Amino acid sequence: MKEIIPLTVGAAAGGLLVREHRMRTKAERLSAATLETLLNAIDANDAVTGDHVRRVADYALILGEGAGLDERTLRSTERVALFHDIGKLHGALTDIFHETSKLTPEERRAVMTHPQRGADVLAPLEGFFPDLPKGVAAHHERWDGNGYPRGLKGKRIPLVARVVAIADTFDAITHRRRYSHARSFNEAIDAIKAGRGTQFDPDLADVFLSQPVLGRIDEAMREANRPHKNHRNRRRGETQRAPDVTFRWRPRSDGSRARGHQS
Ligand SMILES: [Fe+2]
Repeated sequence: MKEIIPLTVGAAAGGLLVREHRMRTKAERLSAATLETLLNAIDANDAVTGDHVRRVADYALILGEGAGLDERTLRSTERVALFHDIGKLHGALTDIFHETSKLTPEERRAVMTHPQRGADVLAPLEGFFPDLPKGVAAHHERWDGNGYPRGLKGKRIPLVARVVAIADTFDAITHRRRYSHARSFNEAIDAIKAGRGTQFDPDLADVFLSQPVLGRIDEAMREANRPHKNHRNRRRGETQRAPDVTFRWRPRSDGSRARGHQS
């Protein structure tokens, strides 16, 4: 015999589900807003770094999608990419990072502290995003174990950090303004090839160097270099909701997802 659920019980359960859904959405929005606030703080302090981390996030997501990473790992990759250089904003390092002359050995040692300084800044978020401080701390580790700060080797380096390392190197090379687009693009590709299996995870390097991924990277690079994308416009307030803020999965107030959502 079919069980008859009293209407009032059904209505109460429905109400509970709606409340739970609302709370979850609010929590998601709060976490996205927290991270975006942190990104705004990076912009306010150093807009060049703000632009760099957004480009790195774009490239890292393209690589991650090419490598078939699941959505959870892609979100984590995006967060690590966006905050990988937050340690550079430490007062002890800002002057050194803006230095144009060659670094002294002492300054070099100081620069090498930025991954751990970044992880320390992000430590309070570890309970919510366990991969974030660890990924940030490891973004200068190398596949062969010759990186810093811990000399982690191979798959002991968190996957998200291995993805970001390739995207970071690509942007560091392609964003030297004295080079033409084609020259810097090819030089960056050569650097990824040369670092395959020594600096970089060989499988990820292969994905990066595959035609479909390189095509998307090239497109993203051209888009990032279009005049409206630079930080000066953003600072003038022309794009309060800057189109290049890459929280692709940030829910909007109507519950839909931000641009570029991969279902
Ligand atoms: Fe870095």
